[in-house]
Parts: sequence; structure tokens; C-alpha cells
Amino acid sequence: MKPSILILGGASEGYALADVLAADARWQLINSLAGRTGIPRLPPGEIRMGGFGGVAGLVGFLRQRAIDAVIDATHPFADTMGWNAAQACEQAQVPLLRLERPAWEPEPGDQWSLVDDWNQAIHQLEQQQARRVLLALGRQEIAAFAGLDQIWFLLRMVMPLQPLPPFAAAEVLLERGPFDLAHERTLLAQQAIDTIVCRNSGGTATSAKLIAAREQGIRVILRRRPVRPQVPTVARLDEAVRWLERIEH
Ligand SMILES: NC(=O)c1ccc[n+]([C@@H]2O[C@H](COP(=O)([O-])OP(=O)(O)OC[C@H]3O[C@@H](n4cnc5c(N)ncnc54)[C@H](OP(=O)(O)O)[C@@H]3O)[C@@H](O)[C@H]2O)c1
Repeated sequence: MKPSILILGGASEGYALADVLAADARWQLINSLAGRTGIPRLPPGEIRMGGFGGVAGLVGFLRQRAIDAVIDATHPFADTMGWNAAQACEQAQVPLLRLERPAWEPEPGDQWSLVDDWNQAIHQLEQQQARRVLLALGRQEIAAFAGLDQIWFLLRMVMPLQPLPPFAAAEVLLERGPFDLAHERTLLAQQAIDTIVCRNSGGTATSAKLIAAREQGIRVILRRRPVRPQVPTVARLDEAVRWLERIEH
């Protein structure tokens, strides 16, 4: 029987890995998605949707479906799923691999302040006397900044947020990445942005704003990634496939 591989997905790595494994007859593939977005893009292979019900639920799923290996390809900031996967795989004795894009690293000329949460980011904005700020965050995260009355915010999001948190001065910019460098240069310059607030998501889809910020002397307040469990981790798809080839079934 083919080994059953469970991909914990939802981010671009999960889709890319599903494309590779589904095209390879050696594996039986099950994709798991949290099911938060209305119409998620569906990866190839079997799909299950929604939470497992914590660690116990995932242990039950791994046993019931006789899963041979799990690849946690969730987003770098989806850390609860990562911790649950580590515990469940240990309990069920199923090998676990983390597939994760590398974090962004500062380069000469960058003016980054690294923070661990949005309260620290707010503190930095006040200290730096920011006035025109691009908030490039998830929709659920922008509310924390609504009390900063001295600042004009450009709120970049994929879908409109209703109701919008009570910002004193803000404009919504609806657009979906990837964003190229020319686009980001123009946006930052036209809007006279002095500070960007974002998360260290890594990857290339949204990294151009950091280059444009460096060129234009714009400060960046960057949220560090959450701590994840210590599990074998790779950044590339071919490394994930090699790891799968090495595990015993
Ligand atoms: N956080 C982000 O910024 C971000 C960005 C892009 C995409 N995503 C994707 O969106 C999903 C949810 O993100 P999140 O930050 O809310 O995750 P999270 O905080 O790590 O997980 C919260 C709960 O959602 C369920 N869950 C998460 N990922 C799942 C998956 N792939 N399959 C089944 N259940 C899953 C689990 O529920 P149970 O405990 O019931 O199992 C988990 O405990 C993730 O799959 C992630 O890859 C997240």
C-alpha cells in the first residue's frame, strides 16, 4: 500500500507540496485545511476541512487514517497548529516534518525594529513619532492600532473589513499580493509612508515593500515569528520529498 501523507496546509508551501506529491504515484495524499476562508483554493488530492479538535482529535485522525507521515506546511504565524502537530505526532508515533519558508533577514540600509507583539509595535510607533503608516497585516490584527489618533493609516487588506475599527484617520487599500517592486515603490512614495508595520512572513510575494522601504529610508516595524516546536524543518520542496523517501513505512 502507498504511504499516506497528511499535509497540514493553508499557506503557499502546502499547495506547492500537494502539486508535487499528487503528481508522484508513490504517495497517498491527504490535505488538511482549516477552512477559514470562504472559497479556499483547493489543492490536488484528498481534502479534509476544519480543525481536528485539538491534539486528541489529531491523534485520533492519524490513527484512524493510518497516516504514515505528517508535513506541517502551515503559515509561519499559524503556530497553534504546529504545536498541536508536534504533540499529536509524538503521541501517535508518526514522523513529522516542518516545511517553512525562511524568515526575512535585514540587509545594510534597513531600518527595522523587531517586535514580539502588536503592543510593542504600538510603543515603537509612538516613540518614533510615526505619522503615515502602512499596516500590512491580517484583517483581524489591525484593530490594535485604532487608538493611535496622531497617525494616518493605510490599511492594506485582501477583503473589506466590516465594520472597520474606529481609526481617527485611515484609508483602506484593497489588493492581493504578490506585489512587485515597482508597485511598492510607487505606493510608498505616493502615500508618503514613513513607517511600515508587518509580520516576518518571509517569501517573495510580499517582500518587495522591504526593498522599497530600504531605498526610500522608510522604517519597518517587523513582528518576529512565534516560537515553534523543535521538529525537523526544511525550506524546499525537494528536501521534503527526500525526507519522505527516507522515512520507514
Ligand atoms: N496565521 C496566518 O497569518 C495565516 C496566513 C495565511 C494562511 N494561514 C493558514 O490559515 C490556517 C489557520 O491559521 P491560524 O493562524 O488560525 O492557525 P493556528 O492558530 O495555528 O490554528 C488554530 C486552529 O485552527 C485549526 N487549524 C489550523 N490549521 C489547520 C489545518 N491546516 N488543518 C486543520 N485545522 C487547522 C486547528 O484547530 P483544531 O485545534 O481544532 O485542530 C488549530 O488549533 C492555517 O492552516 C494557516 O496555514 C494562516
